[in-house]
Order: sequence, then C-alpha cells, then structure tokens
Amino acid sequence: MNRALTLATELIRISPTTPEPDLIAKAAAILQRGGLVAFPTETVYGLGADALNPQAVQLIFAAKERPANDPLIVHIADVEQLAQVACNVPSLALELARCFWPGALTLILPKAEAVPPIVTAGGPTVAVRCPNHPVALSLIRAAGAPIAAPSANRFSHTSPTTAQHVLDDLAGRIDLILDGGPTAIGVESTVLDVTGAQPRILRPGGVTAEALAEAIGASALASAPSTSPPSGDEETPTAALLSPGLLDRHYAPHTPLWLFTQACLGDHASLQQAMLTHAKTAQHNGGTVAFLLADEDLDAFANTGFRTLSIGSLQDLDRAAAHLFSTLRSLDTPEATLLLARDFPARGLGLAIRDRLRRAADRVIDVSTNKNQAE
Ligand code: TXA
Ligand code: MG
Repeated sequence: MNRALTLATELIRISPTTPEPDLIAKAAAILQRGGLVAFPTETVYGLGADALNPQAVQLIFAAKERPANDPLIVHIADVEQLAQVACNVPSLALELARCFWPGALTLILPKAEAVPPIVTAGGPTVAVRCPNHPVALSLIRAAGAPIAAPSANRFSHTSPTTAQHVLDDLAGRIDLILDGGPTAIGVESTVLDVTGAQPRILRPGGVTAEALAEAIGASALASAPSTSPPSGDEETPTAALLSPGLLDRHYAPHTPLWLFTQACLGDHASLQQAMLTHAKTAQHNGGTVAFLLADEDLDAFANTGFRTLSIGSLQDLDRAAAHLFSTLRSLDTPEATLLLARDFPARGLGLAIRDRLRRAADRVIDVSTNKNQAE
C-alpha cells in the first residue's frame, strides 16, 4: 500500500486569531521535511506542501487522488514573495494584488523557473494567492517557502470548511490538520487569469466579480466563463486543461444532486412546487429525499416530512456561501438517495454558490421551461 495512505493523521486545535508559535513551528517542520499539513484559510481548508519540493507536492496528488494535469495554487505570505514563484508580472496584476491581498483572489501568472513543473501540471503559468488568515500566513512564514495547497478534500468531492471535513476525507493520508475552526468565506478563491490581453475570471469565488470590476473597470474584465464550459471530463483527464476546477462534476456529494432553477429566479412558489412534486414522486418510488434551500423556502416545506436545511437568506449571500459546503456534507448521509437544491442569484457571492451547485449537480432542472438537462 502507498506509504502516503497509512499515516497517523494528527489533529491539533490552533487559535485562528493568534496562532500558538509552538504549533506553527511543529507544522512548519513537517512541511520542511516534505510532509503534508492541512490548514485553515479564509476560504476553505488547504492541503499544504512545500511548493519547491516536487516529492512533497507529489504526496498532495496521491492523498487527494487528484489527476496530475490539475495544477495547484501556490500560497505566499506577501506581495514581496511573488518574485519567488512568478516572473514578468504585469502591472495590472501587481495592482490587483495590492488591492485584494491578503484575500480570496488567485492570480494566474507566468511561472518562475524555481517552481517545479508538477505544481503547474507542466504548464507555463502558476496560480498564486496570499491568504487572509493568521494561521496560513504564520505557517508560510515559518516554513520559509511558498506553500502549494489545493482544497483539502478528495478530488471532486465537496470542499472542506472545517477540520472535521478534512479528517473525513483525508485521515491516514496526511501528517497534520491544524484546526482553526470553520472558515469565514466558505467558497474558494476567485481564479483570475491575468496572462492575456484582458483579465478573465476562470472560477468565481470569494472576491466578487463586482469588486473586481470596480477595481479595474467593468470593461477591462473579459466576460465571465459559462458555468458549464465544454471542458474535459474528469473521469478521463486529458493532457492540458484550461482550469480543471471548472470540470463539470466537481464539489459533489456522494448522493445524486438535482438543481432547480428558473430563467429568472424569483417566482419562489413555482420553484418550491416543482421541487416538492419531484420529491413526492421520488419518495413514492422508494427514495429518501432531502432539500438544500434558502430561508425564504422554509415555510413552504414545513410539515412536508422531508429533511430540509437552509444555507441562509437570498438577501444575505455571504452568509449562504459560508454554509454551502457544510450543508451539502450534512445532507449527504447514507440514508439519502436524492438531494434537491434550489438555485441562488448570480450576484455577489451568489455567483460562486451557483457555480458550485451546478458542478455538484447531476441534473439541472429549469422549471420555467421544464427543461431537464443532464450535467
Ligand atoms: O480558496 C482557494 O483557492 C483554496 C484555498 C486552499 O486557497 N484552494 C483551492 O485550490 O481551491 P484547488 O486546487 O482546489 O483549486 C485551484 C483551481 C483549480 O481549478 C485549478 O485547476 C486552478 O485553480 N488552477 C491552478 N493553477 C492554474 C493555472 N496555472 N492555470 C489555470 N488554472 C489553474
Ligand atoms: Mg478544490
């Protein structure tokens, strides 16, 4: 059996605001000897390794069962460290880094020689971000190296927003988990490609498209990607992928998930009615259905007997984003045979919620046209 899969994974509580120096030193020593440490960021938990040590980075791919053509994000402690991992940084990228770092913005840049090809899946560009979390920043500084860190989940599974989620996916596969409590933003960073003529969002995330447009001007930003790009299929990875996090089935629970949407979200009663009709049919056929909803739906589902969880109000999409992944994991029990989720509006962090739900979904059902589209 692979040595990387038989480790005694240690979980240590750490202060998220003033991390204990001895715990940071212990974690940094593991990274320096080529081991794997999961740590909190402001978005989701990351699975870290020394980005300049190819053997250590290889362990990330093994632990996550991630295909080698899916490149990693390199985490740095400040803008000054950028020169270690990227070169020919465009002035716009520096401006964006100064504006949004530390924060949930990942920049795609030309890679520096020192970054091993395994980090970038052999490509000429590197994804870089400076996380806004005291534990992550202290750890990067103490390790004395940039840290490669994807989300700390098994490949294509729901991303982790608590240390327990990391343990559930990666116990026995990694050395240490630093438990700094639940993450604040709850969806991953926005991935922005700044290598082309116009910056382009490859993955909507913690920094909203509105905030980016405000910083650089709406017309300076290339149009957002479709939420269902014609990219490769993660079951049969191909040699080069534009941004493999955009693969169709991703962020997924084990239970099949159907997403209910409308051409123009807002007719709550029709959406709720369609979801209930589907649930009753599935139940009639012996299934056990659970719902992922918004606060605004709860009255309509009261006394129906179905399991319902809300991720928050349609009027507070920041809070909804923070609860998305933990709610998906809570609903994903062995008893459930089908999860039905409502769609969220594509503004603010709602764009990232919508993107993740679409990629987690086996089917997207548009109740305004009754279009039923297999994802
Ligand atoms: O918030 C986050 O971004 C978290 C925390 C831990 O920082 N990390 C994260 O990493 O979500 P990961 O590996 O789960 O997602 C990174 C995404 C993937 O979609 C990957 O394909 C894309 O970034 N990516 C990485 N390097 C790239 C590159 N050179 N060009 C295009 N896309 C890249
Ligand atoms: Mg991920």
